[in-house]
Amino acid sequence: MAENRKKVILSGMRPTGRMHVGHLAGVLTNWIRLQDEYECYYEIADWHALTDDPARAKEVNENVLGMVRDWLAVGIDPQKAVIFRQSYVPEHAELHLAFSMLVSVPRLLRNPTFKEKLAELRKKKGYTRMSLKVERLDVEDEVDQILRFVREEDEDKARRMLSSVINRAKDEVLEKITTEVSLDEAAIPAEISYGLLGYPVLQAADILLYKGEVVPIGADQLPHLELTREIARDFNRIYVPVFPIPEPLLTETPKILGTDGRKMSKSYNNAIFLSDPPEIIRKKVRSSITDPMKVRRNDPGRPEVCPIFHMHKVFNGEEVDEIERACRAGELGCVACKNRLTEVLIEKLTPIRERAESYSDEDVLEIVREGSRKAREVAERTMEEVRGAIFGP
Ligand code: TRP
Repeated sequence: MAENRKKVILSGMRPTGRMHVGHLAGVLTNWIRLQDEYECYYEIADWHALTDDPARAKEVNENVLGMVRDWLAVGIDPQKAVIFRQSYVPEHAELHLAFSMLVSVPRLLRNPTFKEKLAELRKKKGYTRMSLKVERLDVEDEVDQILRFVREEDEDKARRMLSSVINRAKDEVLEKITTEVSLDEAAIPAEISYGLLGYPVLQAADILLYKGEVVPIGADQLPHLELTREIARDFNRIYVPVFPIPEPLLTETPKILGTDGRKMSKSYNNAIFLSDPPEIIRKKVRSSITDPMKVRRNDPGRPEVCPIFHMHKVFNGEEVDEIERACRAGELGCVACKNRLTEVLIEKLTPIRERAESYSDEDVLEIVREGSRKAREVAERTMEEVRGAIFGP
């Protein structure tokens, strides 16, 4: 019965490495929740992972099994969801080609994620020279504290706080550059490939190949979904209606910070991975920053800026209220607070790590092959419709 048909969900991740607690709290918990209610396709976006650097192919390939291992370990179930690898389904490339002619180059140049990459590269190469005001950066408290440390000749602490301020400043400056650089101001550096420009077109092909109707994504990906919707509408209008107009599914995801206070990310080297053994978890939590203003054990803390607190919030529901109260009241020192988090993380992550290790490479590969075979059946059917719509029978 048509009314009972489950809606199609498509989402994907680039295989850039093992999964960390940020992925679990953000994307994966969501994916797990959705797999009963929807017909889910979860994609290993390996082609996308090559768009910044095609020479990374070997590394990307090596990351695939580790990533899927973690997906399976947290409860993505291949009986319920189709886990597939983009490059095993060549129809992605064909649909990408068909779509590439429906999108103008200026439209792609306006894509925010592209502009961000461009700004980063220009900055690295010295393309942009501008004066940036960091008046929005609210660091007065920290600066006062650094001065105090300097006066007390505590060089270690002064240095550490300075680097935390600098990291925050870097993020803000990058954000400003992204929004302020206009495209026609400078030439596009030669490092920018045609493939990178087309990143969101490939993503549109990912979604529409399975006639995805609902796309769980983070807010940063909304512009890509908007382009997907435009492409679907244009295709349907120019040729024959083939595609649904997909909707984003923005779920409120808890904030998880890395151990240096920036966004948790493998590339920042501040992540706690699902596969980290207890000793490593202990070490990472111990060396994590906390509220830099909480210097002594009984100083009152600001949980909202503390990466340790954010993890308590997600993984330690039972104690979090008491921890927040005690931290603010200056009754709970950071060392004790970290020890409690360490215990909780070890308890939560150990079964995940053990489950991940319980699969052989061959088991994981077989799941990916089987999922990709299922995906391909759907993809072939869509491509037949697409070819028919464009060129006729
Ligand atoms: N671009 C997405 C990201 O970086 C990954 C991705 C590729 C994706 N294809 C997709 C997400 C299709 C949703 C739907 O996170």
